Amino acid sequence: MRKYRRRRGVYIHPVPVVLALLAGAAAAILCLRLLGGGGGTSPEEPPELPDDTPPPVREELPEHRTTPSGIACTRTNLGEEAIHTGELILVNNQIFYRFPEEEPPLASVYEEKNDSYYVRDMEVYLSPVAMGPLNEMLEDFVEQGGSRTINVVAGYRTEAYQQHLFDQSAQRSGQDHAERYVAQPGGSEHHTGLAADLSILYRDGSSGDYDGSGEYAWINSNCPNYGWVVRYEAGKEALTGIWDEPWHFRYVGIPHAVQMAGEGLCMEEYIEYLKGFPFDGEHLVVECGAGTYEIWYAEGAENVYLPDQGEYTVSGNNVDGVIVTVRTA
Ligand code: DAL
Ligand code: ZN
Repeated sequence: MRKYRRRRGVYIHPVPVVLALLAGAAAAILCLRLLGGGGGTSPEEPPELPDDTPPPVREELPEHRTTPSGIACTRTNLGEEAIHTGELILVNNQIFYRFPEEEPPLASVYEEKNDSYYVRDMEVYLSPVAMGPLNEMLEDFVEQGGSRTINVVAGYRTEAYQQHLFDQSAQRSGQDHAERYVAQPGGSEHHTGLAADLSILYRDGSSGDYDGSGEYAWINSNCPNYGWVVRYEAGKEALTGIWDEPWHFRYVGIPHAVQMAGEGLCMEEYIEYLKGFPFDGEHLVVECGAGTYEIWYAEGAENVYLPDQGEYTVSGNNVDGVIVTVRTA
């Protein structure tokens, strides 16, 4: 049998204790109500004070502005879609391409190519903006002494086809290899139609990998003058997520390609770099063989200052804003 030991001490009856506690709590509630003005709020809620702070005034941006260099501009709302379209959009495994509801216009490389190169088949397409610059680059390559051996083997790809390529690569060469050389569906630049892959087709009908060496080094060195960049270079893997691909060219437009190559920046770095040139700050000026260009970045697409006249392009960065590129000379 369990024994209970009685504690020594003064015995206090529980009923008066409970009553005292209840009386104390009631007094505390009454005090709090009186302090809070008795407005019917619960004691825990702070008293509602009238908010005299005026709402922040959003200063209306002027409709017209002129750059220090003298370019008259008008503030324009381009719509959110503008952030995700254009030749400067960044597409990678973190920043996916936004597929438009309708398939974008595409140029058939088979139909529009010149005689200085081959194309894999009739199913290779590019964005129309990239077609002319590809022709010019490969024509000049042959004119300066290059052999007619370039084969354009890839251009625009659907999401489903990219998935097929990824799965095929993983099956044939392993998951690691696929992740290094094939973008995730949605994360491939080929979805934009602005990327082209080169291969080599010899006279005897055999083919070889394009590595940008030997006579082909001319293409990899001169491609910026035609608006193309070698998108995936050794040393940038941590930024691009893709290993060295000397055969994959991306069209970005001449001044941007020249600037990227000159500064040694990959697309991921260049998109950040351009944010250092807002409309209100110093603008980027690029002088190259094709002319002189003034470039600025606008955050968002609602208040973008666009030139009132002259030759210019606007492209989204696919992240948070747009880039305006004006030809000034
Ligand atoms: N080979 C490049 C990374 C692609 O699959 O888009
Ligand atoms: Zn490619």
